[in-house]
Amino acid sequence: MLRIPVHTASRDYEVWLQAGLLRDAGRRLQPLLGVGRPLFVVSSARVCRKWGGVLLPSLNRAGFRAQLVLMPDGERAKRLATLEALAEKLIRRRADRDAVVVAFGGGVVGDTAGLLASLYMRGVELVQIPTTVLAQVDSCIGGKTGVNLVAGKNLLGTFHQPKVVLIDPEVLASLSDRQYRAGMYEALKCGVIGDARLFRMFEQKRAEILRRDPAVVNRIIAHSVRLKSATVSADERESGVRQMLNFGHTLGHAFEAQSGYRMLHGEAVARGMVGATRIAELIGLCDAVTARRIRDAVVGMGTLPPVKFDSHAILRRLRSDKKARGGQVRFVLPRKIGEVHIVAGVPSTVVIAALEAGFD
Ligand SMILES: NC(=O)c1ccc[n+]([C@@H]2O[C@H](COP(=O)([O-])OP(=O)(O)OC[C@H]3O[C@@H](n4cnc5c(N)ncnc54)[C@H](O)[C@@H]3O)[C@@H](O)[C@H]2O)c1
Ligand SMILES: [Zn+2]
Repeated sequence: MLRIPVHTASRDYEVWLQAGLLRDAGRRLQPLLGVGRPLFVVSSARVCRKWGGVLLPSLNRAGFRAQLVLMPDGERAKRLATLEALAEKLIRRRADRDAVVVAFGGGVVGDTAGLLASLYMRGVELVQIPTTVLAQVDSCIGGKTGVNLVAGKNLLGTFHQPKVVLIDPEVLASLSDRQYRAGMYEALKCGVIGDARLFRMFEQKRAEILRRDPAVVNRIIAHSVRLKSATVSADERESGVRQMLNFGHTLGHAFEAQSGYRMLHGEAVARGMVGATRIAELIGLCDAVTARRIRDAVVGMGTLPPVKFDSHAILRRLRSDKKARGGQVRFVLPRKIGEVHIVAGVPSTVVIAALEAGFD
């Protein structure tokens, strides 16, 4: 089993990665959490139907008292109302401060259950068991929790680091192709911002990635987790290097919102990476060959759902992004594969030109 450390001011923990880890979860967690510990597995019906029958027996075999606590599926469930309903369920089941919340699902479950763990009785232990590519390579590490408001995504949230993160790539088998690819764009992002070897896998092992070759998928997850863990370890609260992880996200968030959230997050980030790369090329930060490589890697993962955007509407959204400081939009832009820079003050004309250049 691969163990990747994460160091933060609030705590140090590990990410465990192994195919088949779900079957072994109980035995692995026992020394860390203690025998008989009450575990509340927060999950959605979709994930549970597929994998609950593997995880829960494994936990109970190891002597835990594991109970399932279901929440609705999908981004629309990531609301304070869901959190309140979950907390009421925990109370009814007599969960006390000794309880452990196990977030078992994609990023939606991870963010919501994470916030639940950070607020329930002023904070209980959290274990993350991510089940989508996006959650495995990105959202399960770093301790960001949150729910959405009408005004936007993740506007209510906390930092609450897990006790441990368990990643079993085998659970990805039941993921739809669209969700699988959407998550892979986040892994590709990790390659561009800080891991040229990871990036080259997307150039050289594209067919293997698309057919979900277990060895290749495992390596991609391992590389991405290492990058995310190292970044979070250097900067828990996103004041510096953690911002690099936002490559493709400044534009991506605007696309996502503009599509009324019909576009998946990863798909929006894919387009955002293409747009940011064009901006980098236009301002002379990135050479044409590197820019072409990044675009080819994104486009090579398959066609993205078609969209027609009004560039000026995107520009307005960029200015109201919560990460825009004093109205200044900050882009994370590539200089070469494995190196990005944070750039403020990109002229609107350049952003418009990049958007109008298209996405392939
Ligand atoms: N906390 C962070 O640092 C962070 C980082 C990035 C994204 N996020 C958040 O993550 C969320 C997106 O996460 P996501 O892309 O995982 O979406 P998701 O959690 O909605 O999962 C996508 C779909 O896949 C299903 N699913 C999950 N695992 C499955 C499996 N193994 N087999 C079959 N179906 C499965 C889910 O039920 C859901 O229908 C967003 O809300 C985003 O804001 C958080
Ligand atoms: Zn993202």
